Amino acid sequence: MTDPRLLPRPGPGFVLRRLSTGDLAEFQSYRQDTELGRYQGWLPTPDEQARTFLAEMSQAPFPNPGDWVQIAIAEPEHGLLIGDVGVYMDEAATYAEIGFTLARSAQGRGIAAAAIRELLRLIFECTSAERVIGVTDARNLPSMRLMERVGMRMTATSQAVFRGEACVEHTYTLTRADARP
Ligand SMILES: CC(C)(COP(=O)(O)OP(=O)(O)OC[C@H]1O[C@@H](n2cnc3c(N)ncnc32)[C@H](O)[C@@H]1OP(=O)(O)O)[C@@H](O)C(=O)NCCC(=O)NCCS
Repeated sequence: MTDPRLLPRPGPGFVLRRLSTGDLAEFQSYRQDTELGRYQGWLPTPDEQARTFLAEMSQAPFPNPGDWVQIAIAEPEHGLLIGDVGVYMDEAATYAEIGFTLARSAQGRGIAAAAIRELLRLIFECTSAERVIGVTDARNLPSMRLMERVGMRMTATSQAVFRGEACVEHTYTLTRADARP
């Protein structure tokens, strides 16, 4: 983290904080859930690889132009990991892309939407990004509903190939001008 004041950021039912190697058990429990990862860029990984990833993410600069940084969604009481969000910042730091995953046990309570609202605030407050986008498979209705819930609007639809299969992807966008204060 470039500026240690950026995280943690608490909100209703969650805390956004840095990932750490201490999150390994919870991280693996939802990242091994193949249904949860059906439309995601990642695949389940062995413990050692996951530990290395968590160690990298615990110290990755944020934002990190040209690269993705993963941040934890933790439950507020004990700080246990319940999901994660990813932020990609383009090289020129003009736009960011986000991704998100919430363990099934934490879904259906508005936690992901609240965490993404906080993440959008973080991005607009702490970076020069003029827009934030999210790209989702058109079959991923929970993801589309979440992005609409936080005020993002569908701005593009394209044909794509995901894991060797043709699919349709929607891009959702929130501009700095449209972001709620
Ligand atoms: C996308 C994902 C994070 C959405 O999780 P979620 O818990 O459904 O999202 P939200 O936080 O917006 O919660 C919405 C649900 O909580 C319910 N809810 C309950 N209390 C609520 C509250 N106070 N505020 C908002 N929603 C509330 C809503 O009715 C809604 O349920 P519904 O979908 O059955 O109508 C989750 O499905 C996921 O991790 N999917 C797998 C990963 C993935 O595909 N990510 C996207 C890749 S781009």
